[in-house]
Amino acid sequence: MTVTVVVGTQWGDEAKGKLVDILAKDYDYVVRFNGGDNAGHTIKYGDQSFGLHLIPSGIFYPEKVKVIGNGVVINPETLMTEIKTVEDAGFSLDKLLISDSAHIILPWHKMLDAIEDEKNAIGTTKRGIGPTFSDKANRATAIRVCDLFNGKLREKLEKIAKLKEKALFAHGKDVNFNVDELATSLEQFSEKIKPFVTDTRFVLNKAIDKNILLEGAQGALLDVDHGTYPYVTSSNTTSGSASTGSGIPPNKITNIIGVTKAYTTRVGEGPFPTELMDEVGEKLRQQGHEFGTTTGRPRRCGWLDLVVLKYTSMINGLDELAITKLDVLTGFEEIKVCVAYEINGQTTEEFPSDITLLEQAKPVYKTFKGWNMSKEDWIKASETKQLPEEVKTYLNFIADQLNVKIKLISFGPERNETMLY
Ligand code: GDP
Ligand code: IMO
Ligand code: MG
Repeated sequence: MTVTVVVGTQWGDEAKGKLVDILAKDYDYVVRFNGGDNAGHTIKYGDQSFGLHLIPSGIFYPEKVKVIGNGVVINPETLMTEIKTVEDAGFSLDKLLISDSAHIILPWHKMLDAIEDEKNAIGTTKRGIGPTFSDKANRATAIRVCDLFNGKLREKLEKIAKLKEKALFAHGKDVNFNVDELATSLEQFSEKIKPFVTDTRFVLNKAIDKNILLEGAQGALLDVDHGTYPYVTSSNTTSGSASTGSGIPPNKITNIIGVTKAYTTRVGEGPFPTELMDEVGEKLRQQGHEFGTTTGRPRRCGWLDLVVLKYTSMINGLDELAITKLDVLTGFEEIKVCVAYEINGQTTEEFPSDITLLEQAKPVYKTFKGWNMSKEDWIKASETKQLPEEVKTYLNFIADQLNVKIKLISFGPERNETMLY
């Protein structure tokens, strides 16, 4: 029995999807436990490629059970499109399960997200994530999957729509929601997802002696409690949320794997101490194709930050690391790693919780000799299990500093562009 959690250790897009696809072959269940369609997880296998937003990254294995857990917020349109895309490509979703406790993103959530983000400048994905999680905490104004089936949907929607019209009016938007139309479209949605909906907490706990893989969305620094608040998403993204977002108790989790990109990226606003605004950052963006899976925005790029990783390794309780996109670091004369911050003349290795301090942080770098490795060199290295000294020095430094062993490294988006370390 193995219950493994996969989480991002930076600001998201660490290649969690690729890792989950690789690991999934040894698991019976693959579970998404947090976030919503703000996430974009890319998986590639042969000539098939998907940018998944809600369905767990186990779709290349039709026989595995895929679970959208209670911690996820569901955008009905995204889910319907995604189910169709995956099935049209020939991958059965007979084994998909959707938690009856997951929350639903509604039209007003998206409208409020867009309006609020204009004022707050978080740079959200405008998918309605923040307003939906706010309603989840607010309780009276939320719709869960089970509400689609309990006969009270229209009544609830009438009440909530009026409140949301008022909220939008306060923002200068005069909107009248057509509740009848909305209810009808949600009823059609509920008919389509009905075969998949269940109390997944019971399903997962009954299957606890099987192998369960829990797939996180976002990264630790986007966690609403532990991230670079307020420049975060509206839910928890660290390993603790694997338990609350799935109903699997913490003491059943057997190992936690952190996915770390060999450098750092971030989408949206907020402090990013090692960000490179020069040609080096541009080279990382171009070589790493760093453009968002969900919004297409160029990702901000910078060197690896060990202050970040020591902190996120601590709060996630990482047992193992997967280092991804190492191939992107080819052709740099020097590669830098941030080992400490200088804040107000003081040197610290502790990640500050107050972003006004983080905004002032000047990275203290350790410089490594770069390397040149083509795709062919990487394939050869993975066959012979021989890596250049420069690459080994870089990786061993990371593992030593974090005191976490590296499980595998990734040198390309394809499933086979991976090697055990
Ligand atoms: P996630 O949100 O953490 O699942 O990551 P994304 O899928 O949003 O972003 C990772 C991107 O890098 C995707 O386009 C992957 O196909 C790609 N990718 C994954 N691993 C590697 C790698 O080792 N090297 C390169 N060059 N690309 C990779
Ligand atoms: P995956 O799972 C990268 C960022 C947004 C924005 C902030 C808040 O693919 O790693 P939100 O729409 O969540 O309210 O936006 O969080 N963000 C992500 N950045 N990868 C993600 O997911 C993200 N999900 C949200 O860009 O800065
Ligand atoms: Mg992503």
